[in-house]
Amino acid sequence: MYGQFGGQYVSNELKLRLDEIVKAFAKAKEDESFKQEYLQELKDYVGRPSPLDKAERLSEYCGCKVYLKREDLNHTGAHKINNAIGQALLAKRMGKTHIIAETGAGQHGVATAAACAMLDLKCTIFMGREDIIRQNLNVKRMELMGAEVKEVVRGSSTLKDAIDEAFDYLVNNDDVFYLIGSAVGPEPYPEMVEYFQRIIGEEAKKQIIEKEGRLPTSIIACVGGGSNAIGIFSDFIADEEVELYGVEAGGKGIETRQHASAISENNIAIMHGMKSYFLLDDKGEVRDAYSLSAGLDYPGIGPKHAYLNFIKRVKYDSINDDEAVEAFKLLSKLEGIIPALESSFAVAYALKLAKTKNKDDIIIINLSGRGDKDLGIILNQ
Ligand SMILES: Cc1ncc(COP(=O)(O)O)c(C=O)c1O
Repeated sequence: MYGQFGGQYVSNELKLRLDEIVKAFAKAKEDESFKQEYLQELKDYVGRPSPLDKAERLSEYCGCKVYLKREDLNHTGAHKINNAIGQALLAKRMGKTHIIAETGAGQHGVATAAACAMLDLKCTIFMGREDIIRQNLNVKRMELMGAEVKEVVRGSSTLKDAIDEAFDYLVNNDDVFYLIGSAVGPEPYPEMVEYFQRIIGEEAKKQIIEKEGRLPTSIIACVGGGSNAIGIFSDFIADEEVELYGVEAGGKGIETRQHASAISENNIAIMHGMKSYFLLDDKGEVRDAYSLSAGLDYPGIGPKHAYLNFIKRVKYDSINDDEAVEAFKLLSKLEGIIPALESSFAVAYALKLAKTKNKDDIIIINLSGRGDKDLGIILNQ
C-alpha cells in the first residue's frame, strides 16, 4: 500500500492468481541472474541506455537548459518495452506460456508483442474498438509480430474496458500471465511496473551528473497511468531539491469535464483492483476520460502517484490538447524530433515552467515515445 492508496481490491479467484505473481516477483528480485538477464535484454534488444540529449535550440527558446531523456529511441518507440521485457521474463520463469495485455495507444501492445515474439510466448492483446480505429498502424504491427488483437466492445471501448476484459480472461485461464502496461492495478503490479521502469531515472541521474556535475532543477513527465513518470521519478524521490512534475491530460479544459486529469478532481475511489484518484460522474461512478492522446485517456492514476500527490512530493498539473499539439509541432521544428503525442504534454509543460526558471536551471523532460503513430491525428487538427 502507498498510504491509503493501492491495495488489492479483487475477487478471491483473482487474488489466487495475483498471489502467485507476488511470490514469483519477490523471488526474482532476489535472484541476481534474473536482474542480469533483464539488463542484458535492455542493452542488446532495447538499445539502452537511452541518451540524455541536450536540446540546444529548445534550451535557447526556453531560456534555461533543457534535456530530453530519449525513450523514443528504444526499440518499438517508447518506454513501454522496458516493462514488457521485465514482466515477460518473469512470466517465462513462472512457466507461463501465454501472455495477455491491454493496450490504449498500442505502444504497450506493440512492446508486449515484440517481447513475446523474442521469448517465444503466445500473445493476446485486448484493445478497445475506439483505440483500434485511432491507432490502426499499431494493430498491424502487433499482428505482424504474431500477436492476436482482440477487439473489446464494452463501456467506452477504450483502455479501461480492455483492462477489465484482460482481468476476466486471467481469472478463467491458468496458463496465462497478465502483463500490465502502466503503474496501475492491484498489488503487485504498480510496484512491479515501477521496478522495471526505474532504469529510466537511474540512467538519467548518472547522465546529468556526467554532463552537468549536478542534479537537475526539475523533471517533467506525462502521466496516463503513470509508468514513464514513476520510471524517471523513482530514483530522484529522495533528492528533495529536485522538483518533480507529473502532467496529466487536460483534454478540452478541466472546467469542461472532458479531460483525463484524475488528480484535478480530487476524488478517491476503487477501480481495477486499486484505490486511487479517479474521475467520477454525478452518481459517484467512474466516468470515461477524454484525451486527444490515446495513451493518456485513462480515468485514474497509479496509486504511487496518488500517494506522491497526497504527500506533496510531486506536483501534478494538466496541459490541454491544443497546448500539446503546439508543443508537438514546436519540438519537431526546433529539434528534428517528432515526439509521441503523450510526451508532448510534458514538453508543453516545460515551455510554461521554463518561464519561471533562470538560465542555469536544468529541466529534464522524459520523452516517453516517438510520434510516428500520431501523425494522422496531428494532421487532422
Ligand atoms: C509514448 C507514451 N507515453 C506515455 C504513455 C502513458 O502511459 P504511462 O503513464 O503509463 O507512461 C503512453 C501510453 O500508451 C505512451 O504510449
